[in-house]
Amino acid sequence: EPRNSEVEQRTTSAAEHLHKQPFVIGVAGGAASGKKAVCDMIIEQLHDQRVVLVNQDSFYHNLTPEELTRVHEYNFDHPDAFDTEQLLCAMEKLKHWQAVDIPKYDFKSYKSDVFPARRVNPSDVIILEGILIFHDPWVRDLMNMKIFVDTDADVRLARRIRRDTVEKSRDINTVLDQYSKFVKPAFDDFILPTKKYADIIIPRGGDNHVATDLIVQHIRTKLGQHDLCKIYPNLYVIQSAFQI
Ligand code: ADP
Ligand code: C5P
Repeated sequence: EPRNSEVEQRTTSAAEHLHKQPFVIGVAGGAASGKKAVCDMIIEQLHDQRVVLVNQDSFYHNLTPEELTRVHEYNFDHPDAFDTEQLLCAMEKLKHWQAVDIPKYDFKSYKSDVFPARRVNPSDVIILEGILIFHDPWVRDLMNMKIFVDTDADVRLARRIRRDTVEKSRDINTVLDQYSKFVKPAFDDFILPTKKYADIIIPRGGDNHVATDLIVQHIRTKLGQHDLCKIYPNLYVIQSAFQI
């Protein structure tokens, strides 16, 4: 029989631990599927919560001078294009309530060390977004909720053409060549196979208001449980005892 003070100590540290573990949401899906749109909707609806967004794009490897001269032959959709160690390190820090400096990525210069870096403070909710965030098992393990944005390939291609020609000032032939050479095969080989890890699959992306409403409701319930544990540390014991 543990003494009262021991129980109290254990429950308090459990409650602290619960509070200190942010709720991590992963949002994956093909390029231009609407991941950012879904994240923006979640953030907007969670307006009274502290939420931070981390993009996998920030962890693109820098290209060597040689790779830069033949940039059209570089596969930006392959898992090796990302510095997953650095991503893991940043996420681990945020999960343990430490601030991190996350590099900014410049799609025009293909550089990921554009200064100043973005200072990201730990938060109750951390959203990690990117085409391949479900690929690495260690990164997957950090997540409390995994969302896959499922948008038809023709819609993704149409949006990509518009985005890359208008926002990134790229030539349409370059966009189409990159799509058939790298983007489509990588989607089939690396991105689509990670859909099986998702807890929730959102058809049509940002247009799906019912899905985002349900997701936000679930996050609120989970955060509410954290808050209750902060106020009533013994609730943790009650919850454990009844295995709620
Ligand atoms: P991702 O983050 O998956 O690359 P984005 O959310 O940035 O996708 O969307 C890709 C492009 O498609 C953007 O230019 C965005 O404005 C556009 N877009 C996203 N969702 C919609 C939508 N529901 N309807 C029309 N255009 C959209
Ligand atoms: O924001 P989104 O998820 O669409 O970003 C991923 C896409 O960005 C990939 O499909 C990749 O081909 C593209 N990309 C690019 N040029 C870079 C880096 C990434 O076209 N320099």
